[in-house]
Amino acid sequence: MLVTTSSYGTRFDVDAIRSKFPALRAHVDVPVYFDGPAGTQVPDHVISRMLQALTDYRANVNGRFPTSAKATMVIDEARSAVADLFNAALPGQIIFGPNMTSLTFGMSRALAGRFGPSDELVITGMQHDGNVSPWLHMAEERGMPVHRVDFDPATYELDLEQLDRVLSPATALVAINYASNVLGTITDAGEICRRAAAFGAITYVDAVQYAPHAPIDVRSLGCDLLVASPYKFYGPHLGVLYGRRELLEELQPPRLRVAPSNVPDRFETGVKSLEGISGTLGAIEYLEWVGGTFGTPTPDPDGTLRPRTRTLHSAFAAMTQYETPLTAALIQGLQSLKGVKVHGITDVSDFERRVPTVSISVSGIDNAALASYLGEQGIYVWEGHVYAPDVIERLGLEGSGGIVRFGLTHYNTMQEVDRAVAAVESHLNKSSI
Ligand SMILES: Cc1ncc(COP(=O)(O)O)c(C=O)c1O
Repeated sequence: MLVTTSSYGTRFDVDAIRSKFPALRAHVDVPVYFDGPAGTQVPDHVISRMLQALTDYRANVNGRFPTSAKATMVIDEARSAVADLFNAALPGQIIFGPNMTSLTFGMSRALAGRFGPSDELVITGMQHDGNVSPWLHMAEERGMPVHRVDFDPATYELDLEQLDRVLSPATALVAINYASNVLGTITDAGEICRRAAAFGAITYVDAVQYAPHAPIDVRSLGCDLLVASPYKFYGPHLGVLYGRRELLEELQPPRLRVAPSNVPDRFETGVKSLEGISGTLGAIEYLEWVGGTFGTPTPDPDGTLRPRTRTLHSAFAAMTQYETPLTAALIQGLQSLKGVKVHGITDVSDFERRVPTVSISVSGIDNAALASYLGEQGIYVWEGHVYAPDVIERLGLEGSGGIVRFGLTHYNTMQEVDRAVAAVESHLNKSSI
């Protein structure tokens, strides 16, 4: 299926995209993967990079023999690629870890010693628990007061006036998300970082749900720390963290006595996942392919973006252009069904403030039964609290099983959207509400 993208003048070919993914190019019974927010499918670029790591240069880094030299080189290459993905100034600002949650717990250990009872923590009510519990543990241990900024359950946006009321010279750390894994809302992360930085606070941005869909520019965001998970942006199970250089140089995370003391290695405890890091390089190479094939160069008025960063930005622009009508059709289709409530921004004119993650609840319908039925029909979705208990509570859904979440990405199709809406309808009819 070819979709002409009006503002770019290029043609986004979803069949060509799908042909890169072994899980999607099978000819029979390909499931509808709407489970992307929990983890996306992976393209050949990733698999061949991982395979090479496991077969051609399986070694730890910094040894005096060729496979180790190659492993060291590929990890350096991957760091540069992630630096380009985030528009970080230097590869040494990129830290790899097992996943976002482990990196965040690690960072909370590294930061804890700086804080005491006169330092305050600000979180929001829109976050995945991976960006809440590590900080709450830290706050409890250090006796730090905690403020929570809520989102408005009518607009699904954070209340920035409430943020202004809690920010003060005592604010030490502000942990926010860039996009919600339930609502799909994109937060005004740059503005929040600016307001927090005005009080000297450290800012920590969870970009896990934003990274698969839109370009990240840590320099224009002005954040101190930012995390994402390659397995949500077409790569392997891994986590990546960006840090402001001066802050990383200051922090002394707990480490083995004999482990390297330099930045970034001192933040990467134990042996690195060579295959994970190689696969992450593959994911960025895949995105480069998308940008080079379907994108057109994005504007760079200041001339500050590196060439790969520009190509990656154009990949995300092309993907968004393609995803938007699918998201609109999914929301419209689901909303047309009796009893369905979409928990997120539904107005197409506001779609630049959301990623294509669509959560619903249906009065009188059990979420697990609906998700199971969809699973039987070959439509893969998640349901429940999806690790965001504060969001579910704010929506008033904690007693009714949370939400059912449909996560679209650029490899999904309009036919899959139609199939999902029809399957939901069929389940509702069967359950005769
Ligand atoms: C917004 C968000 N933050 C954090 C996480 C946790 O990421 P990880 O599984 O890499 O620890 C997730 C996982 O779903 C997420 O959606």
